[in-house]
Amino acid sequence: MKLFTNKKQLQKEIRKFNNISFVPTMGALHKGHESIIRKSVKRSGKTLVSIFVNPKQFNNKRDLNTYPTNTNNDLKILKRLKVHYLYKPSYDDVYKFKTEKKIYLDRFSKELCGQFRKGHFKGVIDVVNRFLEIIKPKTILLGNKDFQQLYLIKKHIEKNKIKTKVFSCKTIRDKYFIAYSSRLNKLNYIEKIKLIKVIKFLKRYKKNLLSKKQAFNFNEIKKKIMSMGVKKVDYIKLIDLKTLKRPRTNKFNLFYAFYIGKVRLIDNF
Ligand code: PAF
Repeated sequence: MKLFTNKKQLQKEIRKFNNISFVPTMGALHKGHESIIRKSVKRSGKTLVSIFVNPKQFNNKRDLNTYPTNTNNDLKILKRLKVHYLYKPSYDDVYKFKTEKKIYLDRFSKELCGQFRKGHFKGVIDVVNRFLEIIKPKTILLGNKDFQQLYLIKKHIEKNKIKTKVFSCKTIRDKYFIAYSSRLNKLNYIEKIKLIKVIKFLKRYKKNLLSKKQAFNFNEIKKKIMSMGVKKVDYIKLIDLKTLKRPRTNKFNLFYAFYIGKVRLIDNF
């Protein structure tokens, strides 16, 4: 694996390839990332992974300063997975140039996490737009766990007629149905036990909704999961992935964002 911290050197190296498959990350790699990277490496072409904790997408200084990092372990994983290139830039390498394309923020950015994390999606699209201009990848692979991010990146690419193809990758879960996430590293043992209970409840709740044993009631779920140790609930919503609206059929995902201790967790299933 070749490591680059400078975009000019990276560009010089990859210029000759028109089949770069790009996996953007903020490091602290876990089984979810591994699955995406594996999918990328299996495709023909070169896989380029980026690790960059993007300050612009953090709406809270404390969250940025406590975001988990584990560079040695990340390097081990990337080598094991036979990744071709790692781009691990500085802030200036990413932000000190004028982009060709403008940030396009679809109105779905105002929903869900957009209501609770001011500026977050603008920061995400900004950095992804920059990576796309630097790397010009044939494909970009993103996880479905962050469905809203995935959708907004797709819209930005469409609107700006960027040639990169977006691949969505399925969410990888542990045996308790918890989606892998870098932020899980921040939970202590007791918090993890609380999360296991909450997820078990939410999974059963969705099953009951599908079998019409239960009608969706936000206040009721909120009360229940708070009694299980959730500190704060940002949202729990049912969304039809086709219309992005409240579902009229049995096809929907349950989206959530809540805090256990100081850790904010999101998922949809
Ligand atoms: O999902 C993430 O890790 C980040 O939001 C991304 C896509 C790497 C942009 O910083």
